[in-house]
Amino acid sequence: METIAFASDHAGYSLKKALIEYVNSKGYNVLDFGTDSEDSCDYPDFAHPAAKAVEDGTAAFGIAMCGTGNGIQMTLNKHQGIRAALCWRPELAALAKEHNNANILVLPARFVSYDEAVAIVDAYLNAKFEGGRHQRRIDKIAVK
Ligand code: RB5
Repeated sequence: METIAFASDHAGYSLKKALIEYVNSKGYNVLDFGTDSEDSCDYPDFAHPAAKAVEDGTAAFGIAMCGTGNGIQMTLNKHQGIRAALCWRPELAALAKEHNNANILVLPARFVSYDEAVAIVDAYLNAKFEGGRHQRRIDKIAVK
């Protein structure tokens, strides 16, 4: 089964913990890059190692969260090999995979319930990249 890289700050810690249990129960392996408590911390310290693991193939993809999702998404997307998508509804998560081949799903932990987060994760996990014109667009994202 595939390995998922997880990262959060303190605001996403409890949702991260719950989602790790959820994906474990579905048979996925997990690499948890922290944080490890609700003590105040800085999301880039956990986002960068998770991004590197996805970029180098140690993890197949990632799931990350902070309070709004914005800070951690901004950090992840500094990595050329990362397409991190902030999703607060299942439809956005499905489209992030189908159209953008997002390799890190980002959640706004303070703005979604556990049940909503599970639905968003399931939508992402069940979706397939459509390729074709979407691949052509993705190929134009990188700053050369
Ligand atoms: C932490 O208070 C909060 O600023 C952080 O989790 C995130 O929302 C930043 O983008």
